[in-house]
Amino acid sequence: MKDTTQSRIAVQDIRSQFPILTQKVNGRDLIYFDNAATSQKPLIVIDKIKNYYEKENANIHRGVHSLSQEATTAYEQARQKISSYLNAKSDSEIIFTKGTTDGINLIASSFGELLSPGDEIIISAMEHHSNIVPWQLLESRKKIKLKVVPIHKSGEIDLNAFEKLLNEKTKLVSITHISNSLGIINPINEIIRKSHLVGAKVLIDGAQSIQHEKIDLQELNCDFFVFSGHKVYGPTGVGVLYGKSELLNIMPPYQGGGDMIEKVSFEKTTFNVLPFKFEAGTPNIVGGIALGTAFDFIDSLNFEQCQVHELELLRYAEAQLNAIPTIKIFGTSKNKTSVISFNVGDIHPFDIGTLLDKQGVAVRTGHHCTQPIMDFYQIPGTIRVSFSIYNTKGEIDLFVAALNKSIQILS
Ligand code: ALA
Repeated sequence: MKDTTQSRIAVQDIRSQFPILTQKVNGRDLIYFDNAATSQKPLIVIDKIKNYYEKENANIHRGVHSLSQEATTAYEQARQKISSYLNAKSDSEIIFTKGTTDGINLIASSFGELLSPGDEIIISAMEHHSNIVPWQLLESRKKIKLKVVPIHKSGEIDLNAFEKLLNEKTKLVSITHISNSLGIINPINEIIRKSHLVGAKVLIDGAQSIQHEKIDLQELNCDFFVFSGHKVYGPTGVGVLYGKSELLNIMPPYQGGGDMIEKVSFEKTTFNVLPFKFEAGTPNIVGGIALGTAFDFIDSLNFEQCQVHELELLRYAEAQLNAIPTIKIFGTSKNKTSVISFNVGDIHPFDIGTLLDKQGVAVRTGHHCTQPIMDFYQIPGTIRVSFSIYNTKGEIDLFVAALNKSIQILS
């Protein structure tokens, strides 16, 4: 596939590491533009999973036998790798979860126990359902108050409104780093700093930023950060919750079971130290190990040049889409990652998505688990294209041709 971007990354070399990209879909070469939903997996991650089940499979933290000890070492090394990639203060602040949704639910459930009626939590109008519903559940359970920062027509967060909502009752600000449906990058440094001035803790939903932005947790100084492995070239069903240890230590366990205990008796049970206190039961062992490998893959890239490449793809696609008169793009901020949400006249997004699929182009259509944003723009949904490091301008040309053909058929 042709690549004419100016970035200094070898896109063809990167593409050759992703076997799925050579697939045909509906008889056409696959053009995978649904990276915000899930990224594809490099061979190194796929091989790690296969090799683990063929040669290394055992339960962890439990056995004296060699396989169990090797699996434990591999799992804990993956935790260290992720901790060091994110620059956490300590490996014990890295909790393995099932993914972003699980991480947010853990915080809502556990940190939520520390809250009292009348305490306030702030989220924004651009949140994914997974950063709305857990707080609504907490609202009815603990009688806390959930407040929502509005967004401007551009999709950007209304920072003045945010400041007005902040007060001494605000206990947590839970905000997405990058909007999954609009691609807008939020000014999280400012949000974190302002929230801390009133004593509020900050949870950053990093589901859409972990693959596009370099995260330094100590510099960021957020209190919690969550993401899913599958968005960052790793497997599904595994993710990470980072929390500052002073907070995680005072939070009650999320789930009870094996591994999260120190001593169990019918009279009194005591809990394990971090991170195990929050990891009840046999985890997704191979998932954690392969997520570590996904970060090895990222380490093998020139991350800054990958960002340049993705930004070039964004600008190239935006220019081509803006040239089609009936297209309306939602989320018009300059500060965006490589995600474009748009509609074509009155055509239903689903119809465009179906015709694109017939031509081998994978996009996401619908509300993208952000129904409040769709209500804000008074639309049923959008067509969303989202680019990754392995996409090319040549693919964008083919997509635009397929889109024009679809519009012709549906007009
Ligand atoms: N949250 C994922 C998306 O935006 C699934 O597509």
